Amino acid sequence: MANYDKYYRTEELFGKPYPELIDFFIRYEPKGKIIDLGCGQGRDSIALARLGYKTIGIDNSKVGIDQMNSIAKKQVLNLTGIIVDIYSFYNYQDYDIVLLDSIFHFEKRDIKRETDLIVKIINRLKLNGLICTCIQDTGNKVSILKDTISSSGHEFEILNDSSLNYLYVDKESGHESETKYCMYIVKKK
Ligand SMILES: C[S@@+](CC[C@H](N)C(=O)[O-])C[C@H]1O[C@@H](n2cnc3c(N)ncnc32)[C@H](O)[C@@H]1O
Repeated sequence: MANYDKYYRTEELFGKPYPELIDFFIRYEPKGKIIDLGCGQGRDSIALARLGYKTIGIDNSKVGIDQMNSIAKKQVLNLTGIIVDIYSFYNYQDYDIVLLDSIFHFEKRDIKRETDLIVKIINRLKLNGLICTCIQDTGNKVSILKDTISSSGHEFEILNDSSLNYLYVDKESGHESETKYCMYIVKKK
């Protein structure tokens, strides 16, 4: 059983998408093809498919992907979930937008693997392709993200660099915790 399978027995574990992310993608044109890496239960993928983006979500949690695909089917959304390890995925050149929401930790043991993944995405992304990252704004995570992008050797236009407050509600206990996030969206030039 993948790590998140047991957590995804709770529906909509992470709640609703950030309003700031939805506002950005409502306004963004052209509506293109998105790959949502580590899409989980489809918190973002479902909302983006509803906005008219052709969306592919990948995750290694079968439970999350099955839940998302069942909603996509019921609501006739242009959304497909696939069970894949994000580290073995390469076809970023086929997408207009790569979404990475809450998948990086940048802890000592993950940092090389995670920054290598960002570089791999950047190298394969098409010109004018977007990378949208939402990451906890704690410690030096945001600066690691920005440094990795800026030292990649590719030029980017920053379309969004904003601070968000994410409220997580534990559905069982009702306990609420608020975390500061950074939403960083760049376009490859
Ligand atoms: C904190 S959750 C975020 C889910 C979703 N992006 C969201 O914001 O609602 C992290 C997700 O990444 C997935 N994940 C972690 N490592 C993965 C890997 N190597 N391959 C595929 N999915 C992975 C987990 O299964 C989980 O669904």
